[in-house]
Amino acid sequence: MSKSELNMADNPDALNSKLFELATAAMNRAYVPYSRFPVGAAIEAHSGEIYAGCNVENAAYPEGTCAEAGAIAAMVMGGDTQIKHIYVMGKGDLLVTPCGGCRQKIREFSRADTEIHICDEKGVRKTLTMEALLPFSFGPDNLV
Ligand code: THU
Repeated sequence: MSKSELNMADNPDALNSKLFELATAAMNRAYVPYSRFPVGAAIEAHSGEIYAGCNVENAAYPEGTCAEAGAIAAMVMGGDTQIKHIYVMGKGDLLVTPCGGCRQKIREFSRADTEIHICDEKGVRKTLTMEALLPFSFGPDNLV
């Protein structure tokens, strides 16, 4: 679904609320029989398209995947490769910041203006830049 289809292009609050709702819905779909720690992620790509993912665990524990990885896979499948906003939502007192591996995964598709919004069910708790989340990162530019 595109931003224009959602009729939100000129309404950032509505878009933010949509992404927040999507992250919540994704978290509620998480498959977490082992950790019981559901996480949801929602991405707005630079194209305006939006994508979501949840963590999906596995009886062979290391095969589990994070919510951010699921949302990024959906984004790439949808034809987008640039993240404008990513909302990451989890429960608890501590901020559910992306794990180290997910920071690198987000980095692959980030730009200078990419924003990472750390949420709980009540709202956005903290907004970070990629540089703050993963300083001195290694990215696609390093390979040219
Ligand atoms: N998890 C995520 O989905 N994203 C993160 O960035 C942190 C951790 C998931 C992985 C596992 O299913 C559960 O949270 C507990 O670590």
